[in-house]
Amino acid sequence: MPTVEVYAHETLGKDLHALTFASPIDLRANHCQPGQFLHIRVSRSFDFLLRRPLSLCDADVEHNRLTVVYRVSGEGTRRLAARKPGDLIDVLGPLGQGFPIHDMDRRALLIGGGVGVPPLLELAKQLRASGKSVQTVVGFQTAGQLMLIEELAVYGEVAVMTDDGSAGERGRVTAALTAELCADADRYYACGPSVMLRAVQEEMSGKGVPGYLSLEERMGCGIGICVGCVHPVLRGGKLANAKTCRDGPVFDAQEVVFP
Ligand SMILES: Cc1cc2nc3c(=O)[nH]c(=O)nc-3n(C[C@H](O)[C@H](O)[C@H](O)COP(=O)(O)OP(=O)(O)OC[C@H]3O[C@@H](n4cnc5c(N)ncnc54)[C@H](O)[C@@H]3O)c2cc1C
Ligand code: FES
Repeated sequence: MPTVEVYAHETLGKDLHALTFASPIDLRANHCQPGQFLHIRVSRSFDFLLRRPLSLCDADVEHNRLTVVYRVSGEGTRRLAARKPGDLIDVLGPLGQGFPIHDMDRRALLIGGGVGVPPLLELAKQLRASGKSVQTVVGFQTAGQLMLIEELAVYGEVAVMTDDGSAGERGRVTAALTAELCADADRYYACGPSVMLRAVQEEMSGKGVPGYLSLEERMGCGIGICVGCVHPVLRGGKLANAKTCRDGPVFDAQEVVFP
């Protein structure tokens, strides 16, 4: 299994961490897509055999390092938070299908909610590098959960929504998807909890903007073997089960079916 060294582990806020480690693959020889994920063994102990999926947040090609940004939400991420620079960690990836970047598009609209925000940073970076303009809308429950706002603002305007109004505007991300904002977008890219993705899919399909959804499905193996991550999709007009780890986590929004 690929074991790599932790380079840095920063605390960004309450229960929020940025973990940077040597890439398990050579980033100069292998392009990694924003929206792909790393499958990380959080502890060497046998009671934690299942890896945890975390999105690629930044790929530093020059130094061959990857960064994930994660919130401690259970025992696995709590154990990961104890890792220190110089420690060795077992990382698979980057895995899965990420966000495609289309040559003809000029304006991209990025939409993120909660722990769905980290992959938008590498996406914004790659979109800007390919000459596109980037506008971002992010949503959180409350101000204490905000993450990566300044970092995203390097690449374009960022609108913040919170459920309780404690930062940015009060309301869900869909409230920020005004006709004016969407008229400017050639394509949207969304990542967040299912309830948000479903609402975004409905809103953007009504406005006629094509896009992609990155699903946060629970995962087992992460490489297409265990069938623990299936999600219904429409393929050729028929309902099928896609494996989120291998066929996704990013899907064309038109094919995703929310049960
Ligand atoms: C493709 C993908 C990318 C993700 N990227 C990020 C990220 O960049 N930053 C971040 O903070 N979180 C991200 N998550 C969610 C993250 O994987 C979970 O928060 C984490 O696995 C929780 O593990 P735990 O042991 O601390 O929590 P527990 O709740 O104890 O976990 C128990 C089990 O449930 C799974 N699980 C729990 N919550 C989730 C969830 N929301 N999604 C999927 N599986 C879950 C765990 O993997 C574990 O197998 C991502 C999830 C997926 C599927
Ligand atoms: S997590 Fe095992 S098939 Fe997807």
